[in-house]
Amino acid sequence: VEWLPLLLGVGYLSGSWLGALSVCRMAGVEDPRLGGSHNPGFSNVLRLHGRRLALATLLLDAFKGMPVLWLSLWLGLPPWAQGMVGLAVLLGHSYPIWHRFRGGKAVASAFGVMLVLTPWVALCCALLWAILAWRVRTAAVASLASGGLAPLVSVWLAPDYVIVVMAFTALVLARHMLNIRRLRRGDEQGF
Ligand code: G3P
Repeated sequence: VEWLPLLLGVGYLSGSWLGALSVCRMAGVEDPRLGGSHNPGFSNVLRLHGRRLALATLLLDAFKGMPVLWLSLWLGLPPWAQGMVGLAVLLGHSYPIWHRFRGGKAVASAFGVMLVLTPWVALCCALLWAILAWRVRTAAVASLASGGLAPLVSVWLAPDYVIVVMAFTALVLARHMLNIRRLRRGDEQGF
C-alpha cells in the first residue's frame, strides 16, 4: 500500500491519454470533440468516422489502464486499493490534465480496468452493451444499462469488488448526465 500514491498518479496520467484524439489525429480526420455528441470516445468516433477508428479507440482506451493495474496486482495491493488505482484511471479519462480537464465518459476505460480486476463482470457488461447497442442503436442506453448492472453482477461474480465497481458505475452515470437529459427529451443521437 506504500506504493499507492505513486500508482494513483500513474493511473491518473495513463487515463488522461485519450485514445479517440490520438486515433483521429493519426488518421487525419476531424477531432471528435467538434462533431456528433462532441465526446472524445469510441461511440462518437463510430458515429463520425466508422468502425475501424472506433475499434482502435476502444482498444487504446481499454488498454491504457491495464499496465498500472497489473502492477498493482503484482505488488499485492488489496482490492480497495486496486479499485482506487482503477478509479484514478477513470478520473484521468474523464478529467484529463492534458485537455483542460474535459474528457470522456469512462465506458471503454472502465471496461479495460474491469477486465483486469473483475474480468467476468467486464465480459458480462460488454456482452450486454453490445446487445443493447445493436438492438437500441443508442450508445448511452447501452452504457447506462450495463453500468447500472455491473454492481449487481459483481455481487455474484466478484463479491470483493462490489464497492469498487459501484464507484466506477457512479462515475460513468455522472458522466452521462447530458445523455440522460437528451434521452428524456427524446433527442439523443444514435450511431
Ligand atoms: O460510450 C459513451 C457513450 O455511452 C455515450 O457516448 O457519444 O453517444 O454521448 P455519446
